Amino acid sequence: MVASGGSLEEKGLAVEEIGGRARGAGARLGRVLARTARRCGRGLIVVAEGTTLTALGPILDRHAHFSQEVIAIRYRAHHYTDEGERRRTLEDDVRRGLTGRPKSLPPKYFYDITGSKLFEDITEQPEYYLTRTERTLLGAIAPDLMREIGPRDLVELGAGSALKTRLLLDARRDRPVRYMPIDVDESMMQMAASRLLADYPLLSVEAIVGDFEHHLHHVPAPLGRRLVLFLGSTIGNLDPLPRRNLLTRVRALLAPEDRFLVGLDLVKDVAVLEAAYDDASGVTREFNRNILAVVNRELDGNFMPEAFAHVAFYNEAASRVEMHLVPDAPQEIHVGGLSMTVRVAARENIWTESCYKFTRSSAEPMLEEAGLRLAAWHVDPDQYFALALAAPA
Ligand SMILES: C[S@@+](CC[C@H](N)C(=O)[O-])C[C@H]1O[C@@H](n2cnc3c(N)ncnc32)[C@H](O)[C@@H]1O
Repeated sequence: MVASGGSLEEKGLAVEEIGGRARGAGARLGRVLARTARRCGRGLIVVAEGTTLTALGPILDRHAHFSQEVIAIRYRAHHYTDEGERRRTLEDDVRRGLTGRPKSLPPKYFYDITGSKLFEDITEQPEYYLTRTERTLLGAIAPDLMREIGPRDLVELGAGSALKTRLLLDARRDRPVRYMPIDVDESMMQMAASRLLADYPLLSVEAIVGDFEHHLHHVPAPLGRRLVLFLGSTIGNLDPLPRRNLLTRVRALLAPEDRFLVGLDLVKDVAVLEAAYDDASGVTREFNRNILAVVNRELDGNFMPEAFAHVAFYNEAASRVEMHLVPDAPQEIHVGGLSMTVRVAARENIWTESCYKFTRSSAEPMLEEAGLRLAAWHVDPDQYFALALAAPA
C-alpha cells in the first residue's frame, strides 16, 4: 500500500519519514525499498520529505503486490550544506588544488555514486587486506564491546555502505539504537539506511549529509551512551593537522562514559602496502581517475581520465601511501566552471590521496593530543590493522 498524498496520520497509520531531497536519489531509494519489501513479503508505506514523495509513489505502486502490513521506516536526513555552499566549497577546493604545488585534489571528491561503488569493489580485491581484516577484528570484539558500552547512539563518520556496522548492530539487536551516519555521499547513506532499517526493527537512522571535518557539531543531542565509529582507515586520509582538529571535535562529542572506535591501518611490509593501493584488476586506478570525471561533470572540465596513470607508493619518511595521477604527455585542461585553464606537464603529478599508516606508539600520542586516551588496542595476528578504542582522557 502506498499513500502518495494526504495526511497518513489522519488515516491512523504510524508512519515516519524517509528523507532525501533529490528526486533521482529518492527514486533509487524507492526501488531498494520495494525490493526489500518483496523479500520480506511485507508492505511499506514511505513518506518522503517534500517533493520526493511524488517520485517514490509511482515506483512503489508498481511493486506493491503487498498491502497488509505496514512497516514504519524510521529515517531522517539532516542536510547541513545547501547546494550553493557545496558548490562554492568544491570550486574553492578544486581551484586551490589545481593551482597549488604540487597540484592536488581532496579525496572526499572521489565519492560520487560511481566512486562509492568503486570503493566497495576495492574492498573486495584480494590485495586490499584492510576491509576484511578490520571486519574480522570487529566481529571478534563486537559482542563484548557492545555489552560493555551499551550504546543508545551509534555515530559513524564516513559511514559509506555501513556493512561492518552490522556486526555491532547484530550484537545489540534486542535494544533500540539510533544510528547517525555522517557522509558526503547521500545516495550511499540512503541505500545503507534502507537496508539496515529493514533488517533491524529497533533501529532508527538520523543521517547527516555533510562533511565530518565541518559538521560534527550538528550531531543531535545524545539519547544515552554514545559510541562514535570511524572505520575503514579513513582517518588515514587526513594530514596531521586536520586529523588533530577532527579528533578534537570527536572528543567534544563524548561524555565520560562514551567511547570512540577508530580503524587504523598499520605500518607493514612496503610490498603489501603498495599492492593494496594498486590492485591487479585496476579497480583502484579507476577509483583514482574517477576524481577527474567528478571535476569534469561538476565543473565543466575536459580532463581525459585515461590519459593519467595511477601511481601509488609508500612514502616511508611520512608513513603514508600516496596516490597520484600522472600523465605521460602534457595536458591542457579547461575547467569551464572555474573559467580556468590548467596545464599539467608530462610526468607532473596530481596528488589525490594520502593514506597514513600507524603504530601503537604513533596512535597513542595522536589520541592524547586530542584529549583522548587509548582504552583498548585490538590487532589481528598479522598485525596488519588495529581497532583502537578511545575514551575521554
Ligand atoms: C574509505 S571509505 C570508508 C567507508 C566505510 N566506513 C568503510 O569502512 O568501508 C570513506 C568514506 O568516507 C566518506 N567521506 C570521505 N571524506 C569525507 C568527509 N570529509 N566528510 C564526510 N564523509 C566523507 C566517503 O564518502 C566514504 O563513504
